[in-house]
Amino acid sequence: MSAVNGSRGGLDVLPGTQGKVITCKAAVLWGPNEPFVIEEIQVEPPQQLEVRIRVLYTSICHTDLSFWKGENEAQRKFPRILGHEAAGIVESVGEGVVDLKPGDHVVPIFNGECGDCVYCKSEKTNLCGKYRVDPFRSTMLNDDGTRFSVRGQPVYHFLSTSTFSEYTVLDYACVVKIDQKAPLEKMCLLSCGVSTGVGAVWNTAKMEAGATVAVFGLGGVGLAVAEGARVNGASRIIGVDINPDKFAKAKTMGVTDFVNPKDWDRPVHQVIREMTEGGVDYSFECAGNYEVLREAFVSTHDGWGMTIIVGIHSSPKMLPLHPMELFDGRGIIGSVFGGFKGKTQLPSLAQKCMKGEVNLEGFITHELRMQDINQAFKLLNEGKTLRCLLHL
Ligand code: APR
Ligand code: ZN
Ligand code: ZN
Repeated sequence: MSAVNGSRGGLDVLPGTQGKVITCKAAVLWGPNEPFVIEEIQVEPPQQLEVRIRVLYTSICHTDLSFWKGENEAQRKFPRILGHEAAGIVESVGEGVVDLKPGDHVVPIFNGECGDCVYCKSEKTNLCGKYRVDPFRSTMLNDDGTRFSVRGQPVYHFLSTSTFSEYTVLDYACVVKIDQKAPLEKMCLLSCGVSTGVGAVWNTAKMEAGATVAVFGLGGVGLAVAEGARVNGASRIIGVDINPDKFAKAKTMGVTDFVNPKDWDRPVHQVIREMTEGGVDYSFECAGNYEVLREAFVSTHDGWGMTIIVGIHSSPKMLPLHPMELFDGRGIIGSVFGGFKGKTQLPSLAQKCMKGEVNLEGFITHELRMQDINQAFKLLNEGKTLRCLLHL
């Protein structure tokens, strides 16, 4: 882990900035595959139902990497500020925001919760009618405008969060207040990776104690699935990855068995079915790979097996299964943000982490400063890091 000198104490919010434009630093992306450029940008005050936060820590998730590479057709607007895993402090709130105030410790969420709509009132979904995740959105909902600019040119938003910036503006529905005593550098993980993984086990699979699990893809998200399964008492957690360097780390984080598809002359699902007398109870696809999804689906036990899609799959490919295969009693379901209703449920996940019931140790493998963001992307791209924490 690279050392980053200087720890933060107390409030790190500029005094007297409320209602004013803030000039600060951000990592701006001018086009896919280009290096990020640290620019001096202007951040406007929050408008109605918006919140401006001082980002203290941000980390990099594979979804940032995919967008950087231009793998998703949603990436058309530049310049842009990416980033969606972070933790910080509220600097100011716009008109109508009643549940947040300057000084609150918060984590942003890309899948917002208004608390008021028919979806938010339903226990069956964590998708909000208004603020649900939208990879195609690059402006604020209020006025279809941006709150960032560089040398007078608008800079677009990303996943309603845009955390690769010292200051960012979000809809109130995408900001979760957490315990002031929670360690912010670790709470960063709850913004996406860890919540997505543990929630996929708890809320989407509703995995029971004693169940067997296969996790395809042992990145930050896959290992968070493993942690969720460990907490729920899984009897066996089989990790599948084509990068054998992932196994040593995964072993320290609860994964009990390993399968490298490259080591076998037959498909992984056959190997897993042999290991488990017919298949695992639950499989989780955390690689965002079409062929992997197929293997995950047929790795579960017929009659009751359930596959949970966690990785992001770019269109236009359709599900790789025949409808009649579902008659074998295997199910498949997607999990967005681990099924968590962010604003209402993340604070208690944060508590579980603080009590050590959920182990956040091990996820942050590197720490760098924001100006080293290109190095951090390289590390993730080369499969050398789970989460690289950037200090802002
Ligand atoms: N078979 C098995 N594992 C694979 C394969 C494959 N064909 N291809 C890639 N992997 C592994 C990689 O080696 C890596 O360990 O999947 C893992 C992905 O990990 P990260 O790159 O760290 O990504 P992570 O942040 O965990 O996100 C995983 O969830 O959020 C989404 O878009 C994201 O689809 C991505 C997934
Ligand atoms: Zn993410
Ligand atoms: Zn809602």
